[in-house]
Amino acid sequence: MPRLLLFLLLLGASGALPALPRRRGARTPTVPYLIRYFQQQVDHFGFDDNLTFQQRYLIADQHWKKNNGPILFYTGNEGDVTWFSNNTGFMWDVAQELNAMVVFAEHRYYGESLPFGNESYSDSKRLNYLTSEQALADFAVLIEHLKSTIAGARYSPVIAIGGSYGGMLAAWFRMKYPHLVVGALAASAPIWQFGDLVPCGAFFSIVTKDFKRSGTGCAESIRNSWSAIDRLSSTDEGLLWLSKTFHLCSPLKNLQDVAVLKRGLSDTWINLAMMNYPYKADFLEPLPAWPIEEVCKFLKDPSLSDRLLLQNVFQAINIYYNYSGQILCFDMAETATKSLGHLGWNYQTCTEMVMPLCTDGVNDMFEPQKWDLKARSEECYKLWGVRPRPSWIISMYGGKNIHSHSNIIFSNGGLDPWSAGGVTRNISHSLVAIMIPEGAHHLDLRGRNPSDPKSVQQARDLELCYMKQWIKMARRH
Ligand SMILES: *[C@@H]1O[C@H](CO)[C@@H](O)[C@H](O)[C@H]1NC(C)=O
Ligand SMILES: *[C@@H]1O[C@H](CO)[C@@H](O)[C@H](O)[C@H]1NC(C)=O
Ligand SMILES: *[C@@H]1O[C@H](CO)[C@@H](O)[C@H](O)[C@H]1NC(C)=O
Ligand SMILES: *[C@@H]1O[C@H](CO)[C@@H](O)[C@H](O)[C@H]1NC(C)=O
Ligand SMILES: *[C@@H]1O[C@H](CO)[C@@H](O)[C@H](O)[C@H]1NC(C)=O
Repeated sequence: MPRLLLFLLLLGASGALPALPRRRGARTPTVPYLIRYFQQQVDHFGFDDNLTFQQRYLIADQHWKKNNGPILFYTGNEGDVTWFSNNTGFMWDVAQELNAMVVFAEHRYYGESLPFGNESYSDSKRLNYLTSEQALADFAVLIEHLKSTIAGARYSPVIAIGGSYGGMLAAWFRMKYPHLVVGALAASAPIWQFGDLVPCGAFFSIVTKDFKRSGTGCAESIRNSWSAIDRLSSTDEGLLWLSKTFHLCSPLKNLQDVAVLKRGLSDTWINLAMMNYPYKADFLEPLPAWPIEEVCKFLKDPSLSDRLLLQNVFQAINIYYNYSGQILCFDMAETATKSLGHLGWNYQTCTEMVMPLCTDGVNDMFEPQKWDLKARSEECYKLWGVRPRPSWIISMYGGKNIHSHSNIIFSNGGLDPWSAGGVTRNISHSLVAIMIPEGAHHLDLRGRNPSDPKSVQQARDLELCYMKQWIKMARRH
């Protein structure tokens, strides 16, 4: 089996363990917003049909200076847009300082913005309009609509902001529609995690470094856990022991089930690396501050016997899934792929968003797994009736050849595995990279917190400074 790695950029584990009640919505926005709907063309690029759908967006103008004050426009990604507004406190924080209007636009096929209602995911014909290009076109038409219908917004400078896939969209939006936005903040946006632009193993070596630095023996314990699981899986008694030890709702029956368990474990380590925030947060799951350090408290001795080692791995996993203490058992049959967000992202990784990832077990703590496009293509065909086009994103958005663009901030966290595919060096005076060494996945987009490390405070200050510059430049034209 090839590595699936369909985990959403944001939405976490694709595989096994979670079928858990999700308590989301960490942060209530400091200002109330209105929920609006806008009629969009299902197909912006063809004229054969004229179908439309309602795109949802959130809008707040409490801080907006009516006469052409700026608009901060979140380019929604793979999920319910209210989830992003709840976890993007930065935008609400700076709206006041910039006298800005705040808009969060939902990405088509997610949340309530379903082009074919409850049938949107029923076949490849209906899914055909789930692309980044169509999503960007939605944003473009929505911005034109807002500027032409809101009194006093006609000359408002607009800034695109997004995180993760939403960050890629923000950057790409500025590249493709520079007449509509004065600049973009692309946080933790792995726009180079395509083709062979970056080594496929870099992602996992960052995950591993995070565990290495969070406790001695930690990464090594995880590396040793895979073969421990294999040895136990070779007998029925061992399978039963694993099922009990990991509190699985239904027992492991065969090696396929074991593979699902392992996938769930790897996804958990990955998600922890993405969510390694300096304070308690509830993004994918409720987690303590610096969760990897908590996890590593259980993983100090890699030389333990298989059973003792795996008991510790379970304790560690429990931090991720059961921090609330409310989970009775881990249900592996009910995979997280049931949620729309996961389905949609899975489809996108089967078409345009083909991001090669691999492990070697040497530079990382995972089981070795090559990137296998052919196998992935077969899976995609089985699942969706489509095959990936791995080079299209590079043809569309330029790969590393983007120096002709301007006014984009690429911010990345040093702890975030997605920084491997991000822009981490300055390309020109207006294509700027901001590194946050103590930051996990788009920490800078979260609201201010007393436990924020200095590096993220400085990053936010610099981001604000660039945004002010773009707004000032726009005023002169
Ligand atoms: C966002 O926060 C609001 C208010 O706390 C909550 O009602 C909503 O469910 C949250 N959205 C998501 C997707 O968690
Ligand atoms: C297509 O739909 C738009 C919006 O509903 C409408 O204004 C237009 O007349 C339609 N065009 C055709 C050819 O049906
Ligand atoms: C969608 O909803 C309609 C009306 O409620 C229902 O008849 C239909 O079976 C649903 N389709 C799917 C794929 O759930
Ligand atoms: C979750 O934590 C609670 C409280 O510590 C514990 O009783 C329960 O067994 C745990 N659930 C699982 C699946 O381990
Ligand atoms: C890029 O340039 C800006 C402005 O000079 C600077 O603050 C920043 O640290 C540079 N980024 C990197 C990754 O060197």
